[in-house]
Amino acid sequence: MIKSRLCDLLGIEYPIVQGGMAWVAGGELAGAVSEAGGLGLVTPDGAMPQGSMDILGNFRKQIALARARTKKPLGINVTMMRPQVRDMVELALEEGLKIFSVSQGAPGELTRHIQQHGARVLHVVATVHHAQRAEAAGVDAVIIEGFEAGGHNAFQETPTMPLVPQVVDAVRLPVIAAGGIGDGRGLVAALALGAEGVQVGTRFVATVESAAHPRVKQLMVQANDTGTIVTAHSLLPTRCLRLGPDGFAERLADMEFHGISQDEMLKFIGAGRARIGHLDGDLNEGEAYCGAVVGLVKDIPPAGEVVRRMMQEAEEVIARLGQRLAAPQRR
Ligand SMILES: Cc1cc2nc3c(=O)[nH]c(=O)nc-3n(C[C@H](O)[C@H](O)[C@H](O)COP(=O)(O)O)c2cc1C
Repeated sequence: MIKSRLCDLLGIEYPIVQGGMAWVAGGELAGAVSEAGGLGLVTPDGAMPQGSMDILGNFRKQIALARARTKKPLGINVTMMRPQVRDMVELALEEGLKIFSVSQGAPGELTRHIQQHGARVLHVVATVHHAQRAEAAGVDAVIIEGFEAGGHNAFQETPTMPLVPQVVDAVRLPVIAAGGIGDGRGLVAALALGAEGVQVGTRFVATVESAAHPRVKQLMVQANDTGTIVTAHSLLPTRCLRLGPDGFAERLADMEFHGISQDEMLKFIGAGRARIGHLDGDLNEGEAYCGAVVGLVKDIPPAGEVVRRMMQEAEEVIARLGQRLAAPQRR
């Protein structure tokens, strides 16, 4: 039975967190992951209907949908870059949520405010320095995200494998490893590096309950180890699903390779590309965030099945490793 301090801290059965995911992680997905024993995180614009601009209304609706699926612990993710972050936090506190994942910003006052309401804060970071800063600010756990991860990455571009043990050595808090974990082998590897849980994004995009367009899910199943591309290295590195030469992400990467200015890049990117990619499934005009682990995605199961498979495989891997290590070594 795989248990860790993280399970006790959050009151969950398995140390698997479904990462916050713009557009994709609505209430159906978060509720299904929590019901299966992991931790689902509702994201404010998750499953937002076509044409709607009412992100707070959507957030409330998605929390209700998640609650209808589970009575187990449930969380939310907010990105501090968003202008409405404070309203989102207040809404979730008002709804009685007790687990907050916060990304892309400095902890501090917001952490204290959330904790004053008896809630836990998981802070997303990508360097040892930021993990230490989050610990000093009093967060309850850090999520350390490596460069393999789908979506926005840190400028440092450090991968998960070297990052996790360095953070584990530098802080006393429970560490959650994110980026490149998509099955039980990845979970065991993260535990071996000293993490007490994993955060999974990409694997949950290709599930029944995810709000991603069916075309995106299908492209993910077809993708292999070279299935992602990182765009906008100088603005905000973003790992996306590849489409082909005419794909929006590929065209953007090509322009960057040929040295266009940041202003030109911003003009080309325009607005709403992530929504067009994830929800309309149009990767010629939009982008879909996707991690390097996509080559391991072979089907589109229910999210709860992903949690169960990961746990079962992890137990098997640990047993196999034990046997291998116990077996007499041949010279
Ligand atoms: C489609 C997608 C959208 C994401 N959106 C967010 C987000 O809104 N907030 C956030 O903190 N992380 C976001 N992430 C990162 C995930 O929460 C998670 O840390 C990451 O996906 C883990 O790496 P993996 O993709 O290799 O599983 C997103 C990732 C994906 C794939």
